[in-house]
Parts: sequence; C-alpha cells; structure tokens
Amino acid sequence: MKILITGGQGQLGQDVSKLLGHEHKVISCGSKELDISSQEAVDRVINRHHPQVLINCAAYTAVDTCEKEKELAWQVNARGPENLARGMEARDGRLIHISTDYVFDGNKPIPEGYTEEDAVAPLSQYGRSKLAGEQAVTEISSDHLILRTAWLYGWGGKNFLKTMLRLALADPSRELKVVNDQHGSLTWTATLARQIETVLTSDLQGIVHATAEGSSTWYQGACYFLDAMEIPHNLVPCSTSEYPTPAHRPANSILENRRLKQAGLSVFNSWQGDIDAFVRLYRKELLQEAKG
Ligand SMILES: NC(=O)c1ccc[n+]([C@@H]2O[C@H](COP(=O)([O-])OP(=O)(O)OC[C@H]3O[C@@H](n4cnc5c(N)ncnc54)[C@H](OP(=O)(O)O)[C@@H]3O)[C@@H](O)[C@H]2O)c1
Repeated sequence: MKILITGGQGQLGQDVSKLLGHEHKVISCGSKELDISSQEAVDRVINRHHPQVLINCAAYTAVDTCEKEKELAWQVNARGPENLARGMEARDGRLIHISTDYVFDGNKPIPEGYTEEDAVAPLSQYGRSKLAGEQAVTEISSDHLILRTAWLYGWGGKNFLKTMLRLALADPSRELKVVNDQHGSLTWTATLARQIETVLTSDLQGIVHATAEGSSTWYQGACYFLDAMEIPHNLVPCSTSEYPTPAHRPANSILENRRLKQAGLSVFNSWQGDIDAFVRLYRKELLQEAKG
C-alpha cells in the first residue's frame, strides 16, 4: 500500500513512518517538504505520489502558545486537515487523522472516561482548532478515521516525561511541583503507531478514542517514569491553580477506547506497562539525551 505521512518528523510521525515502512511504501513528509496549511502544496504532493492512505500526524501542538498564536494554530490544526481531506477526497483516498482529548471540557467525574458519543466543549484555542479540524475531515472525506489520543510521549521529539527527566537529572534535590489534579492516560507513540497500523485496512469510519488503558495524574505519571528510570527526584504534587498556564486544560482527560474495543481492534495495554517497555528500550539513550 502507498501511504503518505504528514508531520513525519514529529514524535508520532517518526514512529508511524518507521513502523509502516517495514510493510508499505511510505512517503514521510516533514513540515519543510509539505506545509499542510497550503491547499496548493497538499494537492501537489498528493498528485505526485497518489497515496491510497494519508496519515496526518502534523499539528501545531504547543498548547499554551496557541492562545497567542491563534491564527497559526487554526491554519495548521483546522485548515490543514481540511486541505488534506479535500486533496484525498479528490483521489478517493482514505484519510487517517489524529485528534485530541482537549476537545472535551473535562467535567466528567474521574475516573470515568469520555466515549466517542460524549459532547465536545473545548477549553482552549488548541482544543477549538483541533475540533474544527475534526469537523472539516468529517464533512469533506467520505473515507476517514479520526483517532483521538492524549498525553503522548515517544523517543523522537520533546515531551513531558523527557522534561521531567532532564530537570530531575540536573538537580535531584530540587523541589519540582507537578500538577496532581488533571487526570489522563500517558500514551506511547510506538503503541499508537501499532494501533494506526491495525486500523489502516479496517472498515472503521468516523471517530475513535485511542489511548493507553488506565489513568494517572501528571504527578503520578512522572513519579512512575522516574522510578522506572531509577532516577532520584523530589517531585511535589500541586494543584492546577498553583501552576497557572495560558491555556485551560481539562481536569478529566481520560478517554475510553470504546469503539476500538467493540470492533476487537484495540492494541492498548496499561500505561504503566508501556512506560516500563519504553524505559527498557530507551533508558540509555534517554539518559544520554537528557544529560546533553
Ligand atoms: N503531544 C501530545 O501530548 C498530544 C496529545 C493529544 C493529541 N495529540 C495529537 O497527536 C498528533 C501528533 O502529535 P505529536 O506529539 O507527534 O506532535 P509533534 O511532536 O509536535 O509533531 C507535530 C509535527 O507537525 C509538524 N507541523 C507543524 N506545522 C505544520 C505544517 N503547517 N505543515 C506540516 N507539518 C507541520 C511539526 O513540524 P515542525 O516541528 O517542523 O513545525 C511537527 O513535526 C497531533 O495531531 C496532536 O494534535 C498530541
């Protein structure tokens, strides 16, 4: 199968490109090769390669910066998927698009997970722009799958766990406040890549939730990861109000992978099991990178 991947240099894009490259003809484009906010650029690349499937891993993911850079966030997160949907629809291709837990307001009682049927109500520009992207894909593409995921980490790129590691290594005794009243599921991009491989040829359409099983707070997740890495630390739990950010974030970001499970297609394990596997595979490289 011929597959075009956009955002190929991002943390998910790297893992998806690597995994699918074993079995398929993959064309992986970074933002320099293909700017998804340009319809002309999108059409040019689609018409050159004629992919059967396009997987959109590109997004403007700096959640707090989106509050200031609203126009740019909307260009990438809303117009981008709209352009891709139009381009693939013209060629009768399938579009796999990645969205987010931040389309929800997080008011659901914890630890209840949001299902695909729950009402959306984003709290931030990032969430609103990603929701507009979902809506454009749904309206334009007659063959699409939108995977909503959350709290991603992986070997390639920047993420919360890597930041925690860098800070703890720099000074294990330094008190680091970490938010302990937002709940979600830390999800490994390598597992999400396997999930994308699984749904590639399925007849699933519409929106599916796709995150690791179980949930934690940011604080609990960071402690688990640093303990697995055997790194001493002095993390201290704090509340969202003690750590104010420009973008509001949902208190409950837990997603229930209901449709994937109903279809017998979910590949997800517990978030702890995936962190253990991530550490087993990359401990040495993670330490090297964090020490600079
Ligand atoms: N990270 C999370 O915790 C999280 C949570 C929920 C959902 N998601 C969703 O999961 C997907 C993958 O996220 P990720 O963590 O892999 O993000 P990431 O590491 O930030 O990668 C996103 C990629 O998109 C590229 N990009 C930005 N603007 C672009 C444009 N105009 N045209 C083409 N490419 C562009 C970036 O390239 P440059 O760096 O060159 O700009 C970057 O390589 C996204 O849809 C995101 O919204 C992520």
